[in-house]
Amino acid sequence: MALDIKIQPIKNSKISNVDFSDLPFGKVFSDHIFQCEYIDGAWQNPIIKANEPIQLNPAAKIFHYGQSIFEGMKAYKDANGEVFLFRPEDNCKRLNLSANRLMMPEIPADLFMQGLKKLLEIDSDWIPTTEGSSLYVRPFMFASGEGLHASPADSYIFMIAAAPSGAYFSGRITVLIEEKYARAANGGVGFAKAGGNYAAQFYPTQLAIEKGYNQVVWTDDNSHQFIEEAGAMNIFIRIGDVLITSPTNDRILDGITRKSILQIAEDHNIPVEVRKISVSEVVQAAKDGDLKEMFGAGTAAVISPIAGFGYQEADYELPELSDTYASFFKKKIIAIQTNTSKDPYGWRVKV
Ligand code: PLP
Ligand code: COI
Repeated sequence: MALDIKIQPIKNSKISNVDFSDLPFGKVFSDHIFQCEYIDGAWQNPIIKANEPIQLNPAAKIFHYGQSIFEGMKAYKDANGEVFLFRPEDNCKRLNLSANRLMMPEIPADLFMQGLKKLLEIDSDWIPTTEGSSLYVRPFMFASGEGLHASPADSYIFMIAAAPSGAYFSGRITVLIEEKYARAANGGVGFAKAGGNYAAQFYPTQLAIEKGYNQVVWTDDNSHQFIEEAGAMNIFIRIGDVLITSPTNDRILDGITRKSILQIAEDHNIPVEVRKISVSEVVQAAKDGDLKEMFGAGTAAVISPIAGFGYQEADYELPELSDTYASFFKKKIIAIQTNTSKDPYGWRVKV
């Protein structure tokens, strides 16, 4: 059933001010934003309007108790100007998992999908077509209800913003394997895409940056002996010909790129092990010359090869291979996303 989304178009588009040949990540926003409010126990007032500052009461609970969740997805345009999303229903499901954990209301799938598609129709000129660029789409929800009682808010705002974006990382990526800090703990909210998970990693990430690394690879909060994920990506490790990634758990985001890679690997007979992987195993493999690849996988990061890692004051380099699993998966996934290959999985969704 088509929902009644109010459309309030802007008068003058900002698009001519944007240099599409040199896009940063997530800094430039399209003209419009989708918004919907949760008031008196129901989602209401769906609207597409100018993406501009909003007003909130200083007592809104987002500012005090951090009820804030988000998703990340990308829209692509093919050579014929058709617009596609990649597995968007999975983002909606995950947003609702996050909502449940943070005591926020679920967003109905048809509201999410119709708001998203309408926004992309209206702002379709904002979808870049240059290689490596896409329209990064950011659905998010926060507590707008007011009061200082430390309890869930009674009202929420859901929005979908869109930012024509280039690559998330540029240049060589090196990571520091974390020995002290944790981004998430058992029983916590690590599996949710909660804003606070990202705030929690800024300080240890800054310490890693000061030591010359780009990112932290999180280890389990209890022993710090097992590799979990990175700040905005799931982590894959190739030892010999075997691709290894940690199982998801309470502390790890169940990445859509991760599960797409696992499916493609299975269908191309690439040996995969989804199991706990200890830091000592990775270090030993590096010393023995068996560590072939490490890469991160996520919507923003796509598939980002890791060139080296640090652990316990020592640095380890990854070999420079000509034929990598990382580039194989990256090509396969991007071809499905951008409609330049068949999609045997039904992941590509036409807008
Ligand atoms: N892990 C974290 C912490 C993330 O923020 C992301 C990004 O969304 C991912 C993993 C990868 O998830 P996805 O592939 O669904 O984007
Ligand atoms: C994404 O990959 O979409 C994310 O949400 C990561 C974000 C922190 C940039």
